[in-house]
Amino acid sequence: MNITIIGTGYVGLTSGTCFAEVGHTVTCVDNNPEKIETLLNGEIPIFEPGLAELVQQNVAAGRLKFTTSTEEGVANGDVVFIAVPTPPQPDGSVDLSFIEKVAREIAQCLTPEMGYRVIVDKSTVPVKTGEKVAQTVRRYAQEGVEFGVVSNPEFLREGCAVDDLLNPDRIVIGSNDDQALAMMQKLYEPFVAPVLVTDINSAELIKHAANSFLALKISYINAVANICEAAGADVEKVAEGIGTDKRIGRAFLNAGLGYGGSCFPKDIKAFIAISESIGQPFDLLKEVERINADQLTRFLDKIREKLWVFRDKKIALWGLAFKQNTDDVRESVALKLAQAMLDEGATIVATDPQAIGTAQRFGNLSGDISYTEDMYEALDNADALVIATEWPVFATADLKEVAKRLRTPLVFDGRNLLDPEDTQAAKLEYEAIGRSV
Ligand code: UGA
Repeated sequence: MNITIIGTGYVGLTSGTCFAEVGHTVTCVDNNPEKIETLLNGEIPIFEPGLAELVQQNVAAGRLKFTTSTEEGVANGDVVFIAVPTPPQPDGSVDLSFIEKVAREIAQCLTPEMGYRVIVDKSTVPVKTGEKVAQTVRRYAQEGVEFGVVSNPEFLREGCAVDDLLNPDRIVIGSNDDQALAMMQKLYEPFVAPVLVTDINSAELIKHAANSFLALKISYINAVANICEAAGADVEKVAEGIGTDKRIGRAFLNAGLGYGGSCFPKDIKAFIAISESIGQPFDLLKEVERINADQLTRFLDKIREKLWVFRDKKIALWGLAFKQNTDDVRESVALKLAQAMLDEGATIVATDPQAIGTAQRFGNLSGDISYTEDMYEALDNADALVIATEWPVFATADLKEVAKRLRTPLVFDGRNLLDPEDTQAAKLEYEAIGRSV
């Protein structure tokens, strides 16, 4: 099928590429000429394992094109996806101005001669956005234009986006238009995954409800971790004990510094705002946010308790990205932690397998911070090691080397990556989350 994706951000680029990979012909549109230039040169503007190769292969095969022209995109695509940002507003509600603008632009490019078109919302949007998109397209399109509107939320995780897209747990397609649903089912035929067909409002709600539930799981285990700490128990054992119950599941029960990234913080805020706007306040999610914010404060207190003061102390910081396998530092708890320590006068030498460049460009950290690619070099003469991101390479660190290089053998593990027994064997003084046994 011929598909167009408007917006080549994380979701747009990765889903466009994966649609091409399964055999569709895809036109990716973005209004940023530099981004399109980069993509036309065979480079990708983000770090995502496996994506660059797929982009190159599909461009070479003639199935993947890039353009700045919405007109060209709409002319090429029987199905036109909207994958533009939906950033938060100061009150937590979603700024839908990009969606509205693209809906208008699509409307103005449609002609009755093109025949029936499907307009799909892939961005994460509040329930009832599809209705507004349909209304807007109808208002701005010529008379006689035929189209249907679909919500098709995306569940990919950064760092494993390609696999999540090619092998999804499920595909959600929501529309009140049967012709649009039939075209979407055809589009997803090459994928081996259950397809859930719903009305448009339910599909939109599924995305916010799913992300909020995952964030709730994280805050739940973090709250349990704090109880473990006070009671003298090990949250890793507790997570295993509850997670082996199939009804609960072990995933997303990793206690730590809390969730960050471009999705959870924004989506939880949005769901709170949406529920309030329709008169059904969802206060449980406010508690999820509170627990999440407290994790950082508690961890800082823990470090301060041992170091006494941060001023004139050198901290080795392992991790800048908001999680492993990404260079993304948006809403990264690691950066918030770094800034808090810098504010109290610490000197930081930070490392990250992928995110040093993005932290330097977008992190806005102010204070005495420098960066090194070498995680062991960061430790030289440091008063403590602080682990802030769950990169596997940190979990398998040579702890004898860590002990040798640190000035004082203090390790604060904000992601529970190390084995307490191993740290003991290496003569490290070890503090983690919810592990006080
Ligand atoms: C999340 C969802 O997992 C995706 O399904 C969804 O499509 C995406 O948001 C989105 O809305 O676009 P992502 O933000 O890439 O994906 O990252 P996650 O792997 O979900 O991690 C989010 C945060 O939670 C990270 O800061 C991570 O460190 C933290 N986390 C995750 C924990 O603290 N504990 C865990 O057990 C799991």
